[in-house]
Amino acid sequence: PTTRVFRWNVSEIALPGNRTRKVVNGRSPGPLIEANVHDRILVYLTNNLTKDGTAIHWHGLPQPLTPFYDGTPGITQCPIPPGQTLLYNFTFGGWTGTTWWHGHTSVQHTDGLFGPLVVHSPLEAAAPVNATSKRQEDPRLYAAEHVLTMSDVYSADGEEMKMKYLTENPMETIPEPVPDWAEINGLGGGSHSEEDSVEGRMYNDGRYAELRAQSGVNTRLRLINAGSFAPLRIFVDGHALEVIEADGTPLAAPYQRYRDILIHPAQRYSVLVTREDGDERTAFWVRAKMEDGAFAYENLRMQPEARAVLRYDSSVSNTSLPLPTTRGGPPPSINSSTWWDALPHFEEWDLRPAASVSPPPNNDIVVLPFKFSIQRTHDQNWRSFINGTAWEVPAAGDAALVKDLAGMFGAGLEVQEGVRTWPLDQMIAVFKHGRTVDVVITNLDDSEHPFHLHGYALWLLGHGRGRFKAAKAELNAVDPMRRDTFLVPRRGWAVVRFVADNPGYWAFHCHIAWHMVGGGLFQVAVASPLGSMGVVLPDDLVSQCGMW
Ligand code: C2O
Repeated sequence: PTTRVFRWNVSEIALPGNRTRKVVNGRSPGPLIEANVHDRILVYLTNNLTKDGTAIHWHGLPQPLTPFYDGTPGITQCPIPPGQTLLYNFTFGGWTGTTWWHGHTSVQHTDGLFGPLVVHSPLEAAAPVNATSKRQEDPRLYAAEHVLTMSDVYSADGEEMKMKYLTENPMETIPEPVPDWAEINGLGGGSHSEEDSVEGRMYNDGRYAELRAQSGVNTRLRLINAGSFAPLRIFVDGHALEVIEADGTPLAAPYQRYRDILIHPAQRYSVLVTREDGDERTAFWVRAKMEDGAFAYENLRMQPEARAVLRYDSSVSNTSLPLPTTRGGPPPSINSSTWWDALPHFEEWDLRPAASVSPPPNNDIVVLPFKFSIQRTHDQNWRSFINGTAWEVPAAGDAALVKDLAGMFGAGLEVQEGVRTWPLDQMIAVFKHGRTVDVVITNLDDSEHPFHLHGYALWLLGHGRGRFKAAKAELNAVDPMRRDTFLVPRRGWAVVRFVADNPGYWAFHCHIAWHMVGGGLFQVAVASPLGSMGVVLPDDLVSQCGMW
């Protein structure tokens, strides 16, 4: 194991057109963290914002015995005050795969504070370079990999949009701010050369991320939706997408090949791509299209598709090569398009894990029902509710919270289980260590929502439309998928299970930025089995609470 040290400086930069962007070391997306499974990560995070606190959350990582480094202000830490540095110091606890990190303060991630994080497993099967046979016997093999950090982008300032959404009760059909364009690795947004565009305008100087591939072997693309609102539908012209990983969970072979996949905010997939036999083209568009039945194409300012270039067998490193001219669909040299037409429709609830770890059997389970809704308050403001409570971030310097984190570790097995409101008017569900919990989420809203529990990968037992009826629901407790971010259908339900074996305070929320800041969050608290177990909260984390 290696210790990898990062020094990150969070600041705000001005972009042309009065835009600002929150960046790490001057960039958004920020730096890639790439590590091996048992490595230790040290991130010295310095807040150089002028007046706001900040914190970074490591999405999907379990943080075993370091839940205070989960990076959720008001839950696991006080925000880092301007001018201060906090050290995040943790291991991956066996977790491997594709994920990302992001600001968890207000809508800082909407303003650009995010970046990719890849943890390699020794089981990854990299192909020998110069492999000649196409689609080698072991289909997992791949010769190269690329990380695509994709997001929707807003031209307006996140804080201003948030205030308007929360306090000026916008009456539009879509009260949430609608994104203006999308990007792949910070590039490729806007209208594109071979199309008539609404404004004929390119963002990011018309530059595209370039991804190199080698013919005859697989290339792995690690796809991350780091955006705030829009689901992204991903296509690679002339290629099938063979999905091998979802949120760090390896999928069962043989892998399913799809024509496109749909990634909701905060979800990740790895896909293998290979140029089809008989296709001689050397450059292809990778497309990430913002998709939402509710807002797609309605807003004329919006340029819904971001692109990158997948380029074969080129050693030229500058970007003066011609851009692809291909459209979607099968390669023109292949008359029959059967392979393309036969590709199945992507449905995330159909995915199955490689090695299924069956959830514990259906007894002695605590059922935690929660109802999610988006409503106007009596003064007409938009809020997201979970069981009637809209979460508000406690005051920045609520040190009581951090003290109580230590208290929770000290609670041992005597902890009082149940749902209560704490420390303010906020729903928190407390569980003994080792308790099996089924969360039954009823979504009263007429849009679908991506929900995320920190610190755990959940077993996805089932979902459906309408009201959940235990007697009728078909739940899969044999080989369910496990992941950290999953979709709850519109006007429908989902049942997910976890074993509360990772002590700490964990946020459970809708990952759409506007719904999270609108209150669609509650906390899960899991006690430690061992009394205080010698957990000492780090000094910098405790003292920064006192600085507010
Ligand atoms: Cu990426 Cu609280 O989440």
